[in-house]
Amino acid sequence: MIADAAGRWRARDLDVLWHPCTQMREHHGGEGRAALPLVPIERGDGAWLVGRDGRRYLDAVSSWWTNLFGHAEPRIAAAIAAQATTLEQVILAGFSHAPAVELAERLLGIAPREAERAPLAKVFYADNGSAGVEVALKMAFHWFHNRGEHRRTKFIALENGYHGETLGALAVGDVPLYRRVYAPLLLEALFTPSPDAYLAEPGESPVQCAERAADALRILLEAHAGEICALILEPRVQCAGGMRMHDPLYLRRARELCDQHGVFLIADEIAVGFGRTGTLFACERDGVVPQYLTLSKTLGAGLPLAAMLTTPEIEDVAAERGYLFYTTHASDPLPAAVGLKVIEVILRDRFTERAAALGTRLKDGLVALQQRYECIGDVRGRGLLLGLDLVKDRRSRTPDPELAQRVARECLALGMMTSVVRGGFGIFRIAPPLTIEPGEIDLGLEIFHKALSRAL
Ligand SMILES: Cc1ncc(COP(=O)(O)O)c(C=O)c1O
Repeated sequence: MIADAAGRWRARDLDVLWHPCTQMREHHGGEGRAALPLVPIERGDGAWLVGRDGRRYLDAVSSWWTNLFGHAEPRIAAAIAAQATTLEQVILAGFSHAPAVELAERLLGIAPREAERAPLAKVFYADNGSAGVEVALKMAFHWFHNRGEHRRTKFIALENGYHGETLGALAVGDVPLYRRVYAPLLLEALFTPSPDAYLAEPGESPVQCAERAADALRILLEAHAGEICALILEPRVQCAGGMRMHDPLYLRRARELCDQHGVFLIADEIAVGFGRTGTLFACERDGVVPQYLTLSKTLGAGLPLAAMLTTPEIEDVAAERGYLFYTTHASDPLPAAVGLKVIEVILRDRFTERAAALGTRLKDGLVALQQRYECIGDVRGRGLLLGLDLVKDRRSRTPDPELAQRVARECLALGMMTSVVRGGFGIFRIAPPLTIEPGEIDLGLEIFHKALSRAL
């Protein structure tokens, strides 16, 4: 009876909705294809999502690494309720409100620092990650424009990087699935090899791989001297690109090279910021401070919020004709109040340490599985951000996307939500809420194991 209700709900949904980042044909089925069932969700409960049919699913990916504290966390819910009954929305142009100011103060207080460099000193808000990236790109361009450096119109980005879906953010992304169709519309970006340790040549260490990528960056910067506004990158982990990870050396070298060429560094920490990797910020571990630090996703713990932190030298962007970027919901009081609560809870409950410890437990469990199954080509992780590749053959690393899809379906049938990179890569992205309990990690490992053996 309840299951029928879920079926009716699916039909109602498919009648009227177009789902994001989805090939709708997969849900409709037909032409000999079985439909991939949408999962109607009724509510959330910690690390679990509960379907309309009452089934419980362990959330192994936190809605693409967004949810930090599990679903319906009482402290976040209380912060929302308190703010909603005080002041839910007022535009930040011409007005000021406590959550926006206090959150900015708090963010700047915890932002990464470097002894020799002015600290991040100003915050600009937006309401989603892509918009936050647009803010940084436009501001970097605008700064050079104000100085009469009109040849500086280009950005450098990393191969396999991802920064969002709006046209500017898409232009500096290099995941073909999202980019290909819109390529003719995009501003010019120059792509430099990723330091991704998975791409290390035979006999090359991750450090040497990072050195090689940094060398390529140096050559590109030299070839385009005076034309580049900024280098944008995801520090340490390319999440959407398949949880690909690199050695910290790259970030330090990139910082030096940007300084040498008078180019800004934009660190997109929309995915890695706020504790997932085991430190509050991914650049902090490497002692690197960018001129622009973009944050979103986890900052709002489920509410739409993005913040872009900058150094004081950028401030005069506003001097000439102002900096007119604006999205209506840029730091509404409601998400800003949640952002404040998120920081309070992370620091008070030491969630960064928890992410590091639980990440080790999860990675060790996956590595143990890798020792038993040839089809697990690679396991990598930083804190509670992990990637796992399923391959047809470990030596050639040929991906096995069909196996990955079968495993994902079995996981769902066994009660766990997973995320497989689209486009035939056979990669699982794993990012459970930081509140997940050790026993739930073990359960997740058990489910994955069972799903894998059923799918093989
Ligand atoms: C590193 C990174 N930057 C930017 C974005 C875009 O954020 P949004 O989806 O909120 O626009 C994402 C989203 O996954 C991301 O992972």
